[in-house]
Amino acid sequence: MIVPKPVRYEIRQGRFVLDRDTSVTASPPLGEVASWLRGELSPVVGGELLPGPGSGTITLGLRDDLPPEAYRLSVAGDGVVIEGGGPAGVFYGAQSLRQLLPPAAFRKASAGGPLVLPAVLIEDEPRFGWRGCILDVARHFMVKQDVLRFIDLMALHKLNVLHLHLTDDQGWRVEIKRYPRLTEVGAWRKESQTGWNGPMDGRPHGGYYTQDDIREIVAYAARRHITVVPEIDLPGHTQAAIAAYPELGNLDTPLEVRTTWGVGVNVLNVEESTIAFFQNVFDEVLELFPSPYVCVGGDECRKDQWRDSPAARRRIRELGLRDEEELQSWLIRRFDDYLAERGRRLVGWDEILEGGLAPGAVVASWRGDLGAVSAARAGHDVITCPNTSVYFDYRQGTGEEEPVPFGTVLTLEDVYAFDPIPGELRDDPAEARVLGSQCGLWSELIDSNRHMDYMAFPRVAAFAETVWSPPARDLADFRLRLTAHLPRLAAVGVEYRPESGPLPWQTRPGVPGRPEDRARWQAKIDAWTSNIRS
Ligand code: ACM
Repeated sequence: MIVPKPVRYEIRQGRFVLDRDTSVTASPPLGEVASWLRGELSPVVGGELLPGPGSGTITLGLRDDLPPEAYRLSVAGDGVVIEGGGPAGVFYGAQSLRQLLPPAAFRKASAGGPLVLPAVLIEDEPRFGWRGCILDVARHFMVKQDVLRFIDLMALHKLNVLHLHLTDDQGWRVEIKRYPRLTEVGAWRKESQTGWNGPMDGRPHGGYYTQDDIREIVAYAARRHITVVPEIDLPGHTQAAIAAYPELGNLDTPLEVRTTWGVGVNVLNVEESTIAFFQNVFDEVLELFPSPYVCVGGDECRKDQWRDSPAARRRIRELGLRDEEELQSWLIRRFDDYLAERGRRLVGWDEILEGGLAPGAVVASWRGDLGAVSAARAGHDVITCPNTSVYFDYRQGTGEEEPVPFGTVLTLEDVYAFDPIPGELRDDPAEARVLGSQCGLWSELIDSNRHMDYMAFPRVAAFAETVWSPPARDLADFRLRLTAHLPRLAAVGVEYRPESGPLPWQTRPGVPGRPEDRARWQAKIDAWTSNIRS
């Protein structure tokens, strides 16, 4: 009853009893995994699980005939053996081991007696190397402790990339020592819009991570084999930065940190001083985030201000560019060069394809399959995150009972049906360009961790299966395993959405859904989808 479904799962004769006399042994390269596993299991058995021989032993080991993320887990009466191609594989084997225990094992409290595991043999490895979640901590700030909890929930589902959307019009969430106003000013807004188009709430909102907080988050994630990919979005989605440092913008009038949603007109100017400013920002970001991939955004940059700006028009002429689209590509290339010189790879949203793309750049394709197909065919690595399947800020049910309903309907079943390889790329050599996928937890309308739980789970579990498990789908089997999985989430305290609909306290009167919004979103998505074919 493991989620995501393993490649091979065989029930054997016998059982293993886990109790306070069980020991966990590991060779030195697996010391971290062993101590993590002891930390998870010790409170459950009500005693310290020690290294060395005990009445039953959980042995962790490496095998050089397995890929780094693959594992083999054997549970038998006389012991448990987890072998992986690398520490990550062993970690995933240990995650599967936890799922063989009763849901009470997911509580940080004694289960009140020995725990019995069924004898099994599991052989498993992921389908994709990039199994991610985008967490938007810019629109609504998520406190550090909740980020760490979310990392644990990702690890439980064998996900391995946390794409942190750290900056946007509505907030700048990472301390940059050289530019303190980015957080002194940019991390706070005076109020927020309720619903997508609703009235203002009149309540200040904000927060940011200090550099020490970021180091803690990155280290916590690394211990769980999760890479944190930072995103500093530019040249659009930058109003919070411009509010803090007006010289970055195109206007003479000051701006406030934005309080409403949707694509804004306020974007960076393209002066050398602005490029230098953001490269100085990235100097600090690269120190904090060892990730080989760094996201510079590049999405939804409206060109109105560049069209109206004599300085931008002069820049286009000087650089011999055709138009504002090429100006955006030129700007992204500057950051691609900067990152490449420092041994990192640029990730950008699919808009970076417009006007020509830097050769080593990775495209995060979000507008349906549009960008994924053209980027992969043009020889770029791709991460698929289509809003048509894996944007978990979109509503989960067809009725208007969803709290703060937004976007089109993406049910659990819709998510489970997602294939990270777009249909048009299947059996095409360019298919190999798809590194994997990531689901989006955009937070304009997710203003609390409870609501984040509601929007993320159990859709994250269905998503995890699409990126980890072999491509064949069996919805009935998934639902059955989910029946065993939901009590694990409940034991951790996750307030997931029941498939039957929101519980009474999960509804939110006063933020009604508007059928016309839904129709508008569907039309937008239909247009993107038909674009691929034209
Ligand atoms: C995006 O949803 N604007 C990447």
